[in-house]
Amino acid sequence: MNIKNICCIGAGYVGGPTMAVIAQKCPEINVTVVDINEKRIAAWNDENVENIPIYEPGLSDIVKEARGRNLFFSTDIDAAIDRAEMIFISVNTPTKTYGIGKGMAADLKYIELCARQIARVSTTDKIVVEKSTLPVRTAETLKNILTNTGNGVNYQILSNPEFLAEGTAVEDLLDPDRVLIGGDIDTEAGKDAVQSLVDVYAHWVEKDHILTTNVWSSELSKLTANAFLAQRVSSINAMSELCEKTGADVNEVAKAVGMDSRIGSKFLKASVGFGGSCFQKDILNLVYIAKSFGLNEVANYWEQVILMNDHQKRRFAANMVRTLFNTVSGKKIGFLGWAFKKDTNDTRESAAIYVADYLLNEQAEIVVYDPKVKEEQVYADLDYLNTRSEEENRKRVKVVKDPYEVTKEAHAVAVLTEWDEFKDYDWQKIYDEMLKPAFLFDGRRMLERKSKEKIGFEFYAIGS
Ligand code: NAD
Ligand code: UGA
Repeated sequence: MNIKNICCIGAGYVGGPTMAVIAQKCPEINVTVVDINEKRIAAWNDENVENIPIYEPGLSDIVKEARGRNLFFSTDIDAAIDRAEMIFISVNTPTKTYGIGKGMAADLKYIELCARQIARVSTTDKIVVEKSTLPVRTAETLKNILTNTGNGVNYQILSNPEFLAEGTAVEDLLDPDRVLIGGDIDTEAGKDAVQSLVDVYAHWVEKDHILTTNVWSSELSKLTANAFLAQRVSSINAMSELCEKTGADVNEVAKAVGMDSRIGSKFLKASVGFGGSCFQKDILNLVYIAKSFGLNEVANYWEQVILMNDHQKRRFAANMVRTLFNTVSGKKIGFLGWAFKKDTNDTRESAAIYVADYLLNEQAEIVVYDPKVKEEQVYADLDYLNTRSEEENRKRVKVVKDPYEVTKEAHAVAVLTEWDEFKDYDWQKIYDEMLKPAFLFDGRRMLERKSKEKIGFEFYAIGS
């Protein structure tokens, strides 16, 4: 099928950047990104392109180039569906918070709503592309809904999981390690649909980086990739604790191990724990799927990755309390960073939230600075945990715009996100203005130890 119009349902961290790049690279295709969230769409359409709702290096330039030419953001979902030959579903698939599979399974209600809407509106044949991360065999459910509630038009379902990482989304989209497309490759219509999507990506991705498989392999590969990546972080974090007990240094260990070409050097950075909207959600989903097939050993194996991550966040916070003479009650603790990693304003599942929650239970007073995260987001993250009242969170946590306000008169400062600017702060000034002993906890292994100790800090870093 010759694709002239693409619709993407979901203008979030994946839908927005992915479609912006498709639009930039395929000027002859009209790309419309739709969402039920009016505020989000308005922000994507903001005259000042710096106000688009997602911060990603390089993204605003691409939006500036394509928006209004062949890239559109709209809340008129029906019209965009009707016009498109190809529809990407890029809505959120969070962990279920109710009913069967609560706390484990992926909540597919948003996916199903999209399928029902597509079925209701479509009057011409469509290729429906799963862009969201989904449990293996979801395409079957989609097909079932589309065929049984539709207007008799034909649907092809493709799986095209997204592998971009936040903070490097544009780079990852422009130069992906691979693009994965799963389809019904046993039928002519299925092969044709796969080819249509291959042709879109072939505008800028080399053919041998575009991998085609059956739908189930594609769906499962996405969960597997995230599980493997998260497993590496948990593996090095497990070693970080052993390093702290033995005098080994986790950065040196990671380097020595990573130089083995069979292991590789990437994703071996010890930290206060991985965050982000997907690693935990996708592994829990994988565990749930394995359990539902009675594969308990498989489920238990992958669950350890999450348990290790929870332990890492908890032990970082517990170590702070222990080091501060076993009490942080009434003490000002400064947080540098709140986002789950640098170069993003996303805070979903950020380790900082859980460290803060632990310290607040110990009655600490927390002051937060993050270059990209807004005050209301910090409060929303803490309120979401439901550990204490909203008033209490606002009373005990302050969010400031000047990092030196975080550190002034603080008993301790903790680095929770690896923003580059933290390295260049005036650490002598910070030391001078802190209470003594001045404790510095580096949850990202990003600060240089010797110079901090020379200034006088009591310095603690993950894995050394
Ligand atoms: P997101 O929450 O940022 O965006 C999802 C958007 O979908 C929201 O704006 C929401 O309003 C909209 N939406 C939900 N239901 C809708 C409906 N029925 N009609 C119209 N709009 C609707 O989520 P995200 O981070 O972009 O993730 C989307 C999917 O991509 C998830 O499955 C996720 O696992 C996967 N993924 C995310 C990343 C990432 O880095 N964030 C990377 C790869 C894959
Ligand atoms: C991750 C994957 O890297 C993407 O391929 C995938 O598409 C995406 O999840 C998804 O499905 O949502 P993302 O969560 O955006 O991307 O960011 P990562 O760079 O993977 O970092 C995840 C977390 O692990 C962060 O908190 C990061 O600080 C932490 N991390 C990462 C470490 O602690 N150490 C490392 O060595 C690497």
